[in-house]
Amino acid sequence: MRIDKFLADNSIGTRKEIKAFIKAGRVLANGEPANDPGMHIDPAKDEISFDGRTIEYEKFHYYMLNKPAGTVSSTKEGSSVTVTELLSDEGVKNLSPVGRLDKDTEGLLLLTDDGELLHDLISPKKHVGKEYLVITEKPVSADDMKKLEAGVDIGDDKLTLPAKAEMKDDGLHLTITEGRFHQVKRMLEAVDNRVTYLKRLKMGELALDPSLKEGEYRKLTIAELALIKAKSGQ
Ligand code: URA
Repeated sequence: MRIDKFLADNSIGTRKEIKAFIKAGRVLANGEPANDPGMHIDPAKDEISFDGRTIEYEKFHYYMLNKPAGTVSSTKEGSSVTVTELLSDEGVKNLSPVGRLDKDTEGLLLLTDDGELLHDLISPKKHVGKEYLVITEKPVSADDMKKLEAGVDIGDDKLTLPAKAEMKDDGLHLTITEGRFHQVKRMLEAVDNRVTYLKRLKMGELALDPSLKEGEYRKLTIAELALIKAKSGQ
């Protein structure tokens, strides 16, 4: 990996700033000034420091993406862009989305190469809440909301687990703790309605950063990662 990318990934600065830091001799690789931003390093072996502070190698990577409609969370489907392709500039191998969103669903999607966390977050046993903004064809009545909250028959062996339904200015906010196939759409069908727009807003306590435009992503902050790890039980 290039040393400038390694430093940028660790939030030391922009590529341009990093070039200047390297030129100024503020970056050392194994104790020696790194004179070239294009120098290749092995982050797992080489010791890199900035202004005398050793930069810890990040074993795993965690991103939040504002998934745009039209992209697929699973493996490549025809010409559709996959969510991992949206992050290809990061150069992180083995990134996977944490759970799936339908092609036409937008909003919060976490991507990581931390297999253990990924597994814990999608495990039905952990009951991680996922909050969606749901826009429907017909109005959702108070009675429908009660049914959605209590659990509805979506054609599986079991009713859906208790959910939380709240009507807000922008539409229905529905929080579910399972991740069954097309679950929100099927829940609305169970109350004789149809979803026309779906966006995930939250996963556990982690909310989609409202400054991220569709298709934009960023690394999770340390505080956000702690929130999501606490929820996963790690
Ligand atoms: N429920 C759905 O129906 N679709 C999604 O993408 C997510 C939850």
